[in-house]
Amino acid sequence: VKKVTIPSLLEKKRLGQRISAITAYDFSSAKLIDEAGLDIVLVGDSVAMVMQGHESTLEVTLDEMLVYARAVRRGLKRALLVVDMPFGSYQVDDADGIRNAVRLVKEAGAEAVKLEGGITRAPLIRRLVDAEIPVMGHVGLTPQAVHRMGGYKVQGRTLAAVELLRRDVQALAEAGCFSIVLEGVPREAAAILTAELDIPTIGIGAGPDCDGQILVWHDAMNLTGAAPARFVRRYADAGKLMRDGLVRYRAEVEDGSFPSDAESYHMSGEAKELLNL
Ligand code: KIV
Ligand code: NA
Repeated sequence: VKKVTIPSLLEKKRLGQRISAITAYDFSSAKLIDEAGLDIVLVGDSVAMVMQGHESTLEVTLDEMLVYARAVRRGLKRALLVVDMPFGSYQVDDADGIRNAVRLVKEAGAEAVKLEGGITRAPLIRRLVDAEIPVMGHVGLTPQAVHRMGGYKVQGRTLAAVELLRRDVQALAEAGCFSIVLEGVPREAAAILTAELDIPTIGIGAGPDCDGQILVWHDAMNLTGAAPARFVRRYADAGKLMRDGLVRYRAEVEDGSFPSDAESYHMSGEAKELLNL
């Protein structure tokens, strides 16, 4: 197995090969993803919603991200580990952002960090890259900006909005990002931005013309219990599999058929004889 690296991802774009990415938050899922040969595993701040049950991504802390990221790290051999910088961990000032990114690298083995925002993040990204911390950008529908956006809305539908996106991704590329997530942007906009950039774009709700795609684990495996957004394709119905298993487990506990004798431990023959069993 050949390790995925930042140079190998840039090479993929150059060769026109698509990049596969998905989120993970725990060891066993990370192991499955790694064995399936995906390129990038992101410990997303979506963990706040799909693992912790919060209404937005704003609540998860850096210390919590470190716990999830360490578990994922232990499950990976080949895939590149990217960890989200959570809300509040890079907005205060750049020094704080660098310190927090260093923690993700040092304490969790992140090979890159991801942070949200456009041109205003360029100075911080430059400093992170100078500190040898690779950065993935994230523009378009940026969930940490939910209150400014007034909800989770597609960004970049108008020409003026696309011009702003173009300015943002150019600034991120110039600042040294090795890749940029395009989330919730029209297919046409994503295609234009992807064609103009030398670094790979990773789309989610951004159409098929990006250099790669990312999905949230719980969406892709149908573990959310909610109707999926338009951009989600379900690659497994783990929700149904688990629900069916749990119903059967409960029934077999209640009717006494689990566990069987074969699923039980037994005393030694000698001990059983002495007890007349
Ligand atoms: O947190 C997350 O899961 C993400 C991906 C959707 C890109 O940022
Ligand atoms: Na995120």
